[in-house]
Amino acid sequence: MKAVIVVHGGAWAIPDEISKASVDGVKAAACEGFSVLKRGGSALDAVEAAVRAMEDNTVFDAGHGAVLNSDGEVELDAIIMDGRTLASGAVSSVKNIANPVSLARAVMEKTDHIMLTGRGANLFAERIGMVTVPTETLVTEYERKEWEKHKKYVSGVMELFNSQWGHDTVGAVAVDCSGNVACATSTGGIRNKMVGRVGDSPIIGSGGYADNLSGAVSCTGHGESILKVTLARLVLSHVEQGKEVADAVDLSLRYMGDRVHGAGGAITVSPSGEWAAKFTTERMAWAAVEHDVLWYGLDPNEKFKEQLSQ
Ligand code: GLY
Repeated sequence: MKAVIVVHGGAWAIPDEISKASVDGVKAAACEGFSVLKRGGSALDAVEAAVRAMEDNTVFDAGHGAVLNSDGEVELDAIIMDGRTLASGAVSSVKNIANPVSLARAVMEKTDHIMLTGRGANLFAERIGMVTVPTETLVTEYERKEWEKHKKYVSGVMELFNSQWGHDTVGAVAVDCSGNVACATSTGGIRNKMVGRVGDSPIIGSGGYADNLSGAVSCTGHGESILKVTLARLVLSHVEQGKEVADAVDLSLRYMGDRVHGAGGAITVSPSGEWAAKFTTERMAWAAVEHDVLWYGLDPNEKFKEQLSQ
């Protein structure tokens, strides 16, 4: 059975000054997740490890480096899903948590619920002894400056999403040596979002979905558009109807563009290890590892290859 991991660092108009750091970040995260699979670890452990690596990397809008809401605060969303059982855990609008993906996993494994939000998610984090961090440790100087620069323009976020206002989301999908798939997605959302705004990322079937019968998907892009078309499930419904994974993602992104004028990206993997990384924004940093070969890209129709040491 072929083990594969695919990760993305968000679909948006990534400016040149952070493009190299974004590509380096997704490559490192994919290698981190693949090392879990190589040791015989589960797809679930692999996607959590990959997403944690990107949450810890300030170049991405998740965990450290997250964007700020209209009050200048960090509110984070995340989901994780296990394709074996359809078990899923999510958190939304959570504060002071460096790795929301691990809190989402705890919701999945330690509660009878699928999602906890806001104060409830933070109370749960406290109950299970998850370390909290001061907001300021999650905020980069770059992000604080961007927020100051743009805070007066709070409307029209959708039209501006494809500009540098977007700064969107990390995610991972994987299949392990046993053919189990999993997905994880984590984000700070959209800069200057309203307080309490929840995007697609923590919503099952929108920001991510995983099912051993069809595959795993993690989405990125304009959350309100992704929610309207339940993008992750849409991709898998095309797979269920016999489409190749790359065609399924293309069709779904095209539908989102045509139907609700939304741009974004998605990564997907099937239980047999077919995978795709596609986007309709200007750029998306992505990376994948299969058979000790690392694939990665940033611009449309671009795909580079590196052999990893065995
Ligand atoms: N796709 C992330 C968000 O819109 O919140």
